[in-house]
Amino acid sequence: MIQESLPPVITIDGPGGAGKGTVSSRLAERLSWNWLESGRLYRWLGWRAAREHLDAGDEEALCGLIAGIQLRCAAGSRRLEIVGSPAFEVLADEAAADWASRLAALPAVRSALLPVQHACRLPPGLVADGRDMGTVVFPDARLKVFLTASVEARALRRLKQLNALGLYGSLNHLTQEIEERDERDRRRSVSPLRSAPGAWILDSTGLTADAVVQRIWEAWQAGS
Ligand code: DC
Repeated sequence: MIQESLPPVITIDGPGGAGKGTVSSRLAERLSWNWLESGRLYRWLGWRAAREHLDAGDEEALCGLIAGIQLRCAAGSRRLEIVGSPAFEVLADEAAADWASRLAALPAVRSALLPVQHACRLPPGLVADGRDMGTVVFPDARLKVFLTASVEARALRRLKQLNALGLYGSLNHLTQEIEERDERDRRRSVSPLRSAPGAWILDSTGLTADAVVQRIWEAWQAGS
């Protein structure tokens, strides 16, 4: 079967601020696999669309931007990124996240991004994090994790991340934005945020990122 010869994938889906990025990056490092942080694709698209003053509903122009995407491995890491991406600080702010969440609800955008994400399935394996990695993009992944945490814990983590990048925000405001974005990601008709059938639902509230990585790594070792 063709599927058998494809490199293995571990998917880590979940709401914003659940720790997917940190956990996926460390897991990819530990396994010496590639890492796709799919939220950055949506954030990049939002950033480009804003820069070029596109209309948030102009699917044709958005798909034109997607058609021009070229990927490479980020310097000194296992993360696959878009050639010409700006520094993460630019994509990390809440305005980019908001744009991303709106564009992510467009079916044409999601389907145009599918081949880009499939192209990331490179040997020896891929850790993919996002919202629909296990449900839509890599339904044949060998291990699917749905990482959650309480809204309060997620807002606090987001605040620390922003502070570390020299960006600021209020905890109340972040909590509210996270709740609104969660709601939009869950409610959209195409690829809504939900756990994949067979996914392992892992609540990271009160766990360190290393403890979460250790659990996932053990589950992978036990099943492979
Ligand atoms: O994970 P993140 O906060 O960087 O994601 C930014 C936005 O992109 C978020 O609103 C959800 C959306 N997204 C998505 O719809 N599907 C993905 N696979 C990844 C992100």
